[in-house]
Formats: sequence, structure tokens, C-alpha cells
Amino acid sequence: MTAHKKTQTQLIHAPRKAPQYIETVQPPLFRASTIIFKSTSHLFDRHWTDAYDYSYGTHGTPTTFTLADNIAQIEGGTYCLLAPSGLSAINLVNSAVLNSGDEVWVADNIYGPNLEHLNNLQARYGIQVKIYNPIDAHSFQPTEKAKLIWLEAAGSVTLEFPDLKNLVKKAQQTNVLTALDNTWGAGLAFNAFDFSNKHLSVDITVHALTKYPSGGGDILMGSVVTRDQQLHHKLYRMHAIQGISVSGDDTAQIQRSLAHMSLRYDQQSKSAVTLLDWLQQQPHFSQVLHPSHADSAGHSFWSEICTTGKSAGLVSVIFKPEYDLAAIRKFCDSLSLFKLGFSWGGPISLAMLYDLKKMRSLENTHLQQGLLVRFCIGLEHPEDLIQDIQNALKQIE
Ligand SMILES: Cc1ncc(COP(=O)(O)O)c(C=O)c1O
Repeated sequence: MTAHKKTQTQLIHAPRKAPQYIETVQPPLFRASTIIFKSTSHLFDRHWTDAYDYSYGTHGTPTTFTLADNIAQIEGGTYCLLAPSGLSAINLVNSAVLNSGDEVWVADNIYGPNLEHLNNLQARYGIQVKIYNPIDAHSFQPTEKAKLIWLEAAGSVTLEFPDLKNLVKKAQQTNVLTALDNTWGAGLAFNAFDFSNKHLSVDITVHALTKYPSGGGDILMGSVVTRDQQLHHKLYRMHAIQGISVSGDDTAQIQRSLAHMSLRYDQQSKSAVTLLDWLQQQPHFSQVLHPSHADSAGHSFWSEICTTGKSAGLVSVIFKPEYDLAAIRKFCDSLSLFKLGFSWGGPISLAMLYDLKKMRSLENTHLQQGLLVRFCIGLEHPEDLIQDIQNALKQIE
């Protein structure tokens, strides 16, 4: 900026631009609402389908596109849209795909707020919500009105791994779009866009980047990944109409954490299996739930699809019926390293108490009666975590 400009002007116009050749370990951070056009030609020659024609902060910056491209690649897809939370990514799919009178299928173990959103759409727009059993593909009986099926592998509380192959095959045969909540697999446990040697693929993956990609328990974000350009444009249009956007700072933080996501995922996966082995030997539980456990519902589907052997960091236990709510609350309150809280994928281990009776619509034959505690394994040493659970169990003996 030349010296003859007034101070007020100088304060606004930055004196230095980064040279083109500079390279840093992390990509530069762009914060933007306004994006400055080079000329009126740049302003008028844009086409809405070309996201990289930078135009306004809500449509993306190099910072958001870098993360989006990374997530698309990790998940095995082509296109990716970012949303301010996992739930808003889910809602984006529902609002872009479903119309009044359509039928949508959800697994009985679906992430609760997704079902709540769909029930809300049902009440207001006459969208029919139907429930299927994720480990029994025959329970998915789409009519000609069926538009979308939500899959979740594994269910995030009871950890059933669904019969993905047969559910997706049936959806394809009946022209039903498949959307997978891929938060558990994180693009690391299996490839949702090719999860069999026969190129079987879901149409859409949604990922709560809040969990493993963030890894800090401090940032909320979600993604919607697709391979089909037309479908992506449909979602992109709704993304733009609804003004869905993410902060540059949050995006840069998640981009930074991606570098070690697979190392964290592998460690949390291993620690969960160590805990699983120990939990299975304790007399307090009627069931220990984890997809790698032979007695867990959907174990054979997990073995078939997660050939990496990875299984995230979630383990749930169902207490024997003699342990009532007061006892389980005492157990949870006695934990010290495990903190009581929602979410997963962060450094701190978390525990959460659920009453299954209030969470399922179908008759369950694979789940014992009783109260459930879900453990989300953090990055602490698994021996310390075992000790923590052992101490808390002693309080209720
Ligand atoms: C399986 C699953 N999907 C989606 C979400 C929503 O993510 P967010 O918390 O970013 O809205 C969660 C959050 O707990 C989840 O467990």
C-alpha cells in the first residue's frame, strides 16, 4: 500500500500477500464471507455447478474444499459437502432427497436424532417412516413409494453390524437410494463405495466429522459424500439454498487432525478389543456388545465387510437384570477416567447410560433385557481404563 493513502484506508488494506511459492505443512487458512472477484468477467462467467468458482463464503473456500476433498478420498467417494454438524449433514440428505408422500426406511438402531427429524417430516409433509431390522434384510420391504434407506454400520449404541450387502442389493433392485451413516467406520474400517468384491456401493455416506476426524472432542462438523454427479448437484443445491456452511477455523482444525486420524482410530480400535476381552469375563453383564465379538448381532456381516479387522472404539455392556437403575447410576458416577458424556472419537474415554426400552420399535430377540452402558474408548492406556471400570463395579457389588 502506498504511503499517501490515509491512515484509515491503510488500516484496512493489508500491505502484504503471501508469495505463490510458499509452502507450509498445513494448508493456508482462508476465512471468508466476501470473496473478491478479479473482474466483472469472473463475476458473470461463473456456473453454480462449479464449486471451485469461488464466489461467497457459504459456497466454500480453499480451506473447506481441501478438507472436503480429503474426506471424499478417505471414504472412497468423489464429491463431498461439509455441514456444521453430523446431524445437519443427515438433515441435508433428508431434505434434498425426500418429497411429500415418499417412504423412507430406517434401521431400528438408527442414530436417534435422525429418526426424530424424519418423524418431524412425517408429521408435517406426510413422509412415511418405516423401520427395519438391520440384521434381517427381509424386514426391509420397500413399496413403490420408497425413496431412501438409511443404513448405519455399526449402530452406535447396540453395535449391531447390518446385513449391508443384502440391504444394498435389495435397495438397488427397487431403485431406493442408500445413505450410510459412516461415522463408526470413518472411511477406515471398510470402503462404503465398494464394500464387496462385486463393486457393491452405497449412494451417499454421511459422516459426523465431530468424532474421529476432529479427534479432540471440541469441534462439530459433518460431511455428505457421493460418487454420482447428478445426486451431488441435488444435494449441493439444497446445501446452497439452506445456507449450510462451516467455519474456516473449525475446518482447518479438523484438517490438522486428519494427519493422525488413522493412528488414533487403530489405537482406539485395539484398546476397545482389549477392554472387550476383559469385560466378557466379568459376571455383572448379560451381554457385551462389539461387532468383533462372535456373540454380537451382525458379527458375521462385520467379518465379511470389515476385512481390515478394524472396529472403532465403542463397546457396550448390558447389565444383568438384578442391577437396577440406581445401581447403574452409582456405577457411572463411580467412574473416574471415563467421563459421562455424549459423542466419541476424542482423547478422553466416555460412558453413557441408555434405557433400551425407550429406544427400539421392533421386538428384539438379539438383545437381553436390562440397562446398557456404552463405553467410548479414548487414548488412555487400556489397563488404566480396565482398572477404572473394575473400581466402579466394586461400588455396586
Ligand atoms: C452415529 C452418529 N451419527 C451422527 C451423529 C451426529 O453428529 P453431530 O454430533 O456432529 O451432530 C452422531 C453423534 O453422536 C452419531 O453418533
